[in-house]
Amino acid sequence: MDLIDGNQISKAIIAELKEEVAGLREGKPCVAFIRVGEDPASVSYVKKKDRTAREIGIESRLTALPESVTQEELFSLIDTYNQDKAVSGILIQSPLPPHLDELAAFRRVLPEKDVDGFHTVNLGLLCQEDEDGFVACTPAGIMELLRRSGTSLEGKHVVVLGRSLIVGKPVALLALQKKEWANATVTVCHSRTAGLSGITSQADILVAAIGKPGFVTGDMIKPGAVVIDVGINRVPDSSRKSGYRLTGDVDFDAAARRASKITPVPGGVGPMTVAMLMKNTVKAFRRQHRPG
Ligand code: GUN
Repeated sequence: MDLIDGNQISKAIIAELKEEVAGLREGKPCVAFIRVGEDPASVSYVKKKDRTAREIGIESRLTALPESVTQEELFSLIDTYNQDKAVSGILIQSPLPPHLDELAAFRRVLPEKDVDGFHTVNLGLLCQEDEDGFVACTPAGIMELLRRSGTSLEGKHVVVLGRSLIVGKPVALLALQKKEWANATVTVCHSRTAGLSGITSQADILVAAIGKPGFVTGDMIKPGAVVIDVGINRVPDSSRKSGYRLTGDVDFDAAARRASKITPVPGGVGPMTVAMLMKNTVKAFRRQHRPG
């Protein structure tokens, strides 16, 4: 069994981007982060993205709005960043508190600054296989992990667990594309799927993105499959100083006995999401400075 090392692969991408950004003559890309409330996981994700941006030479701005912010106030901040020519990309950290309309916020971001790829226009471009759009960072990161670890999807059965806008749907579309490293046969499973383990055990590549710790057990995995664990779940652990540990959607030890390759949690998909956000930010900057 091989471990797919997301830390190592993301480091290589970050090094490539650092070089690319140093060579930009039109100025520096800039990413604006919008966080609402103080959810500890969101605070930690945004901090990590902010630190990585700076490491690459990408400027960053962070606005932390109070939990009580209104939709109009959130829109007003998005509009400010939309209009600011120095801002290349905008990221609204999900999830937002339940009183806010997250989809409306994603749609308020100008498509050309939507480095998260959640705007209707960018999702449409993804369906049309138009590379001018932005692809959501976690799905793009998963595809990059597979490519850089030498896993071709051509003709393979990819089973995606989860149908979210952030991971499940876009990763299914990417695996389905008529492109090198894609061309998979894709099945998307979800909470109402009947006979789930019968389907997962036919997967050559299994992508678990459901947010339930240890949901995928060893018997659900076909021997020799490639397992991509997207879950980042905090489970209480009194032996840790933080009081919790991170665990994926897959029972790692059991899966590792059956899989040919597997991503760990942490250190698998997570760092790739950050790296792809940076890649999208540089792409946004380049597009905004494209002559003509
Ligand atoms: N929450 C979990 N994953 C993501 C992501 O890729 N982007 C944003 N904005 N929020 C998230």
